[in-house]
Amino acid sequence: MNQLESLRRHSIVVADTGDIDAVARWRPQDATTNPSLLLAAAREARFAHLVEEAVARARGDAAAAMDWLFVLFGREILGHIAGRVSTEVDARLSFDAEASIAKARRLAELYQQAGVPRERVLIKVASTWEGIRAAERLEREAIHCNLTLLFSFAQAAACADAGVTLISPFVGRIYDWHKAARKAEDIPLAEDPGVASAARIYGYFKRHGYRTQVMGASFRKTGQILALAGCDLLTIAPELLEKLAAAEGEVPRRLSAESAAAQGAERLRLDEKAFRWQHNEDAMAVEKLAEGIRRFDADARKLEAHVAALLKGEKAAA
Ligand code: E4P
Repeated sequence: MNQLESLRRHSIVVADTGDIDAVARWRPQDATTNPSLLLAAAREARFAHLVEEAVARARGDAAAAMDWLFVLFGREILGHIAGRVSTEVDARLSFDAEASIAKARRLAELYQQAGVPRERVLIKVASTWEGIRAAERLEREAIHCNLTLLFSFAQAAACADAGVTLISPFVGRIYDWHKAARKAEDIPLAEDPGVASAARIYGYFKRHGYRTQVMGASFRKTGQILALAGCDLLTIAPELLEKLAAAEGEVPRRLSAESAAAQGAERLRLDEKAFRWQHNEDAMAVEKLAEGIRRFDADARKLEAHVAALLKGEKAAA
């Protein structure tokens, strides 16, 4: 048995990509996208028809073209999987709960127009205080959320209390930060702060009976994925899926609800002040959340420029 097959016995495997062909190849249960992944996919000639369809549906409106592009890629991905696709809300709305809610409702509505039911979509929202509050309200409307850019324990605890469907703790970006801080080439798995963060969050959620699912995300090497075997879900880029499929061997379960129950973490109740204070205590999380919002915004703007050029061409041809 290869490691990917073996891993599937412990965790739901998710593909982290905008590449529809890769989703078709790996047949994960769920799939996740983000603005950077969709920028890469939208630039590929293979998917130009989707970008053109988004532009055509938008009837000259640049914002609508972006929304349609996200939804059309999501719908296409859903054609190859049985589960859910994650679609991210504009990073510029990360500090605006009302605007995030409006955008999430808009995406849910477009998915509906495209024939996709709500339960097959997770709306990704940054795990800021405002994003968590937005997700709490969206969940009450059965718009299910995936809280992303999650680096601190405070973010995770607040998401669980808000009753969000799923969180994505970012393993690799935590590893990147600590590697740079230590000026090290690598950090061994046993000391990997990204792996430790996701494992701690998983344990805390299970111990306290939270229903919020934990999906380890942002991996740099297969060892990080295997170290979290047993996590509810793991979202994995195609290159790492390939490596797992190419490696033979049984993958032992590392995380389980039973072993989590033995851990002794007290339940946190974080109001806004406590959340901001605790998150702020974690320098890595503060920097990585801010940088992550900037990076997703920068890639969304590049995607907007790509779409705007097509819109302009369409107008010139009309
Ligand atoms: C998934 O939801 C995340 O967007 C993704 O795993 C981020 O990965 P990266 O840190 O490799 O960009």
